[in-house]
Amino acid sequence: MQSFQLNERASTVPPVLSYDREGWQQGYRSLKQEFDYWIDDIEGEIPADLQGTLFRNGPGMLDVNGHPIHHPFDGDGMICAITFANGRAHFHNRFVRTEGYVAEQAAGRILYRGVFGTQKPGGWLANAFDFRLKNIANTNVLYWGGKLLALWEAAEPHRLDPTTLETLGLDHLEGVLQAGEAFAAHPRIDPACYQDGGAPCLVNFSIKPGLSSTITLFEFDLNGTLRRKHAHSTPGFAFIHDFAITPNYAIFFQNPVSFNPLPYLMGKRGAAECITFQPEKTTRIVLIPRNTEGAGLGKDKGSTVKDRRPGSALTLQSLSFETHAGFVFHHANAFEDGDAIVIDSICYNSLPSVESDADFRQTDFDALDPGQLWRFRVDLKTQTVHRELLESRCCEFPYVNPANVGRPYRYVFMGAAHAADGNAPLQAITKVDLKTGQRELWSAAPSGYVSEPIFVPRFAGGAASTRDASDHSLSSTAVEGAEDDGWLLTLVYDATHQRSDVVILDARDLTQGPIARLHLKHHVPYGLHGSFTPHCFVDR
Ligand code: CO
Repeated sequence: MQSFQLNERASTVPPVLSYDREGWQQGYRSLKQEFDYWIDDIEGEIPADLQGTLFRNGPGMLDVNGHPIHHPFDGDGMICAITFANGRAHFHNRFVRTEGYVAEQAAGRILYRGVFGTQKPGGWLANAFDFRLKNIANTNVLYWGGKLLALWEAAEPHRLDPTTLETLGLDHLEGVLQAGEAFAAHPRIDPACYQDGGAPCLVNFSIKPGLSSTITLFEFDLNGTLRRKHAHSTPGFAFIHDFAITPNYAIFFQNPVSFNPLPYLMGKRGAAECITFQPEKTTRIVLIPRNTEGAGLGKDKGSTVKDRRPGSALTLQSLSFETHAGFVFHHANAFEDGDAIVIDSICYNSLPSVESDADFRQTDFDALDPGQLWRFRVDLKTQTVHRELLESRCCEFPYVNPANVGRPYRYVFMGAAHAADGNAPLQAITKVDLKTGQRELWSAAPSGYVSEPIFVPRFAGGAASTRDASDHSLSSTAVEGAEDDGWLLTLVYDATHQRSDVVILDARDLTQGPIARLHLKHHVPYGLHGSFTPHCFVDR
């Protein structure tokens, strides 16, 4: 009996971890140096037809002159550009010269409070009632309308020179934004906007949180000119990082949170540390019609246009639905299916509260809920929401073929944990076939830690331009080549060699391992988001 108990106890000992904490922590070191070189240490071969630039953004500075910041989300934005041209690759990184970065580097100390809890030295008295916002430009980077823009959701973009990565200054998008106005870090590109005759358009939003929150939607054409803008209010405090689009809707998940600003006002916590998840409440799904003429699905439910002047703030009727509590940072994709809107999102059971005295490097992964991929089906007729778990493995940073954004699609690519169960750092790239349920996994464990996988179609640019402009129905997935015909590009931190690799995977088959691993001369701290453009800016 006793030996049976011992065995049983032995079997509950957790399995050997796929990672070691020290190795994982090392990816959170500042990269202070700025590099500019052709990569010559390469395993495998760079595909000759892979041409263009992968831009990445993320916190490059985890300390200011040795004074650690409180959370990586407070780190100064650093842009990496990896250019692929004629079978070669070039690496370049530069910090965004934000006002705060320049001032703090000159002073050699922390001068600003961070949204995620970084405090100026001197205790709460030194921090109380300092409401200056440091625009750290660290979340995403995008080339659109001839501009390279570094994005951070609480303020306006910074514009950079795409060739030199030199900071050109704040950019207000030709007067669309006012000084200091928010512009989210998660733009979506509609590959064939029917309102614009089938041309691609960039859709983004801003949030003004409060007792009632305002969501403003922006749509820009290929030249970066504003085509549509309208504002909507939603009751309650809204903390929204990302959204999804379909041809007719912009979709927002208003997670159940409350905001108590007092510790922030008193200089004791960062603003984001004052947000508390409320599991007893529901998540509100908000659908905002994109069509400023009031057409599209849900028209009969009163999509009224109150102001049709182009570029002016319009008032369209939004729709809202309640679903299970949960926290969503990122959406994979959304599409329309008859009377339903389908949204696939990475959902957490709860939002962990950031403890003001905790070190993020000591994160207890086992104590936190993993992100998992869920499908939400909003039935516009019955006004109901049905949800279904698509992938239980811990995953984040979803990405789909750009030609399928807002359309029915088959494949989603994500960063994932090595193990099928539990919560752990992202060490693998997974591909889920939503049609067959098949999964593929490439893992960099035990010493590799992955970032967002960016899908680059083999025939970049071919799909969107050939689509029938009048076809804003729901099945325009016909593209040249299969949906997974392309590459996945991801940066992988290699803890063994304390450097990062640019990894190229064949998206058609992840199990064969990388086509090429490009060893950088240094590490790149764990980043956030990025994008690919077929343009090459490096002198070949
Ligand atoms: Co994000």
